Amino acid sequence: MISPARVVLGIGSNLGDRIALLAAARRRLEETGSFLIMRASSIVESEPIGPPQPRYLNQVLIGETRLPPEELVAAAKRIETELGRRAALPWGPREIDIDVLAYGALQVRSQSITLPHPEIAGREFVLAPWAEIDADAHVPGLDRTVAALLADLRRDAGRAGRILATVADEGRREMKIVRTLAAVREWRDAVPAAERVGFVPTMGALHEGHRALVARARDECAHAAVSVFVNPFQFGAGEDFASYPRDEAGDAEAARAAGADLLWFAGAGDLYPTTPVVRIDFPDLAARLCGRSRPGHFAGVALIVAKLFHIFRPTRAYFGEKDFQQLQIVRRLARDLDFDVEIVACPTVREGSGLALSSRNRRLSAAGRNAATALYRGLNEARRAFARGERSVQALRATAERCFRAEADVEIEYLELVAPDTLAEAAAATAESVLLVAARIEGVRLIDNVVLGRAEEPPL
Ligand code: PAJ
Repeated sequence: MISPARVVLGIGSNLGDRIALLAAARRRLEETGSFLIMRASSIVESEPIGPPQPRYLNQVLIGETRLPPEELVAAAKRIETELGRRAALPWGPREIDIDVLAYGALQVRSQSITLPHPEIAGREFVLAPWAEIDADAHVPGLDRTVAALLADLRRDAGRAGRILATVADEGRREMKIVRTLAAVREWRDAVPAAERVGFVPTMGALHEGHRALVARARDECAHAAVSVFVNPFQFGAGEDFASYPRDEAGDAEAARAAGADLLWFAGAGDLYPTTPVVRIDFPDLAARLCGRSRPGHFAGVALIVAKLFHIFRPTRAYFGEKDFQQLQIVRRLARDLDFDVEIVACPTVREGSGLALSSRNRRLSAAGRNAATALYRGLNEARRAFARGERSVQALRATAERCFRAEADVEIEYLELVAPDTLAEAAAATAESVLLVAARIEGVRLIDNVVLGRAEEPPL
């Protein structure tokens, strides 16, 4: 794969819902993986050049592409067609126009493509928005900065394509999708120091549980970032790494709907260019509960979370209580290694049946899903017994087990009552004690837990 090139695009529209068409063009460019937007200018309205026609809205985008120039132009043409552009007169009105203004330092003049775009120096509606986001850029071949070209042009009173207004983008928050570590770093570096970054690490196949984390990050922070990476180092031999659900289009939709500002589809090439030799161990915490059947799992989680914390430098990071042991391990990771991040625990999101949402639920049959509801029922029965005054660990576990055993398909791996911080088995139940279960249903491993003294989570 070729390394990404820095590219400047101009997009314009003078037919239909122009704001929405520009937004759709930006989204398509990113979703097709053609072009990742790093900076977007304000939108400016300009008088049309050519035959009489409606006014244009224009915007300049700076970003990265891995496509060679001809393929980028072809991808832009495809997006223009998809957004309803008909083949029209060269200067005619159009729903959407996507121009490659500059491609790195490249200068080419061929039948199909001229780079940089030949009209740049004469177009205020290109130079002004470009100057807003990169005034000092040199336009290849012209040996002038964008700002200098703009100043020259503005001295020409008779110039065509004059800017008439700057249009607010109706306050729409656009989610940026990125695929490279460099693009994440650039995004992060552009966040002013005083503004909070909320971060939600995930392995994708996003559901309402993830969405709740993202929505909270969005509500509490100026910027909400989501990473998607199915981390090979937290899967053991014989576990479901290869079959773990992957759904980029669904993830983009869910992250956008929840209000994310940045979505990173991370690749192993960026995160693990070489096999890591560092190992973060939690001799006690990680050996308990899930650690017994998944040796190395939490070392894998801790390493990737530490790397992601370094990359995103979040003010707050959001984790689900559904993975209670993971949450406690991440808390200790942040504390012991002095990450300047606040770990925010979010309650488990459940279906109406009580089943905790999990990406792995997708692999259950209808019958399996039904059997899986026994997990929360059992945990809740124990919680009710606690509320009635039961304090014996044995008795509480037996209460939950009765529920699980009613379902032939539920194969319990562990059921334990523990102290929340140390995860050590509780000698007697308290309101803070956590009852955790891991079970296999139709070969799918599911986990769940409840805090004994807490009220039930409301279902979706
Ligand atoms: P993943 O299983 O995708 O979960 C990402 C985050 O969503 C975790 O913090 C998890 O606890 C939370 N989550 C999952 N299901 C939830 C539910 N039903 N309600 C509330 N929160 C829920 O956990 C991981 O990924 C990985 O181990 C990761 C931390 C990303 C490291 O690779």
